[in-house]
Amino acid sequence: MPEETLERLDVRPGGSYIDATLGGGGHSAEILRRAGPSGRLLGIDRDEAALARAARRLESLPGEKVFVHGNHGDLGRIADENGFGEVDGVLIDTGVSSDQLDAAERGFSFRSDGPLDMRMDPSMGETAADLVARLDVAGLAEIFRKYGEEPRAAHVARAIVKARDLAPVTTTGQLADIVSRSLGAPGRSRGHHPATRVFQALRMAVNGELEALQKALEDAIARLRPGGRLVVITFESLSDRLVKQCFASHAGREVSLQQGGARWEGALPRLERIDRHAVAPSKAETASNPRARSAKLRAVKMPERAEGSEPGK
Ligand SMILES: C[S@@+](CC[C@H](N)C(=O)[O-])C[C@H]1O[C@@H](n2cnc3c(N)ncnc32)[C@H](O)[C@@H]1O
Repeated sequence: MPEETLERLDVRPGGSYIDATLGGGGHSAEILRRAGPSGRLLGIDRDEAALARAARRLESLPGEKVFVHGNHGDLGRIADENGFGEVDGVLIDTGVSSDQLDAAERGFSFRSDGPLDMRMDPSMGETAADLVARLDVAGLAEIFRKYGEEPRAAHVARAIVKARDLAPVTTTGQLADIVSRSLGAPGRSRGHHPATRVFQALRMAVNGELEALQKALEDAIARLRPGGRLVVITFESLSDRLVKQCFASHAGREVSLQQGGARWEGALPRLERIDRHAVAPSKAETASNPRARSAKLRAVKMPERAEGSEPGK
């Protein structure tokens, strides 16, 4: 949804923007073109190789560019350290990129066999194989339930533990096979590959995705100038729910008081919703790019007069 995204970001010439998920740099290229020679962009990605590729791609575009290898869970610190303490817009395009999904050696996909890795930042942290080897049935089932909403979480976890007692589970192919065999026909009949939920859950656990997103949203909101925009794209319902709840709390509500007047209830600073509901991709877009199928876009705006933007007001 590139056009819908940029429309909501409302890039102004000379503005300062943060792309908290730089990826291939497609959105950032358009931000730089629209912000022009006096525009500024901070691009963050936890995948160092993606960051380097995007930096090369964006080199010749106008404006000041700062690229940081890091987690947008640290967005506040990264922004402050790099002179982006107040910005006109923040974009968060969550999840993995097509480049990451298509690279078998990154271990994100059950469609191609590769090492069971799934780290967006391959330089640090536990891999999915480490988690599968370390956790007991209850620990695995909790991840599958919490991050994958897998209805048969305990059943799949038991099948994995049984299989790993025979041989370590170290590849995406092995895991996909164990999950498919344990879920059998009912799993397949939902129209998705039976391992979809388990792979999503492990990826989200390995990368701490919900925790990073929660922090990134609050850090971004705290740095919006009056009129500034925050635009978020998600690809699964858990992240979308988190964004929806965060925006709803900052959009607040007026509660009428018995003695007259009204009191506003909600998190500060108070924000305006740009759309009433999440925006979904058009039929034409999902036809040409099936991966966009589950995308949801939500956007908020800091009021021009930043009423109630200071805590306690
Ligand atoms: C869907 S892609 C972004 C695509 C990008 N908007 C474009 O136009 O090419 C998501 C990117 O965000 C990165 N990413 C995901 N979670 C992150 C996090 N917590 N911190 C930093 N980068 C993250 C991934 O490594 C990936 O490169």
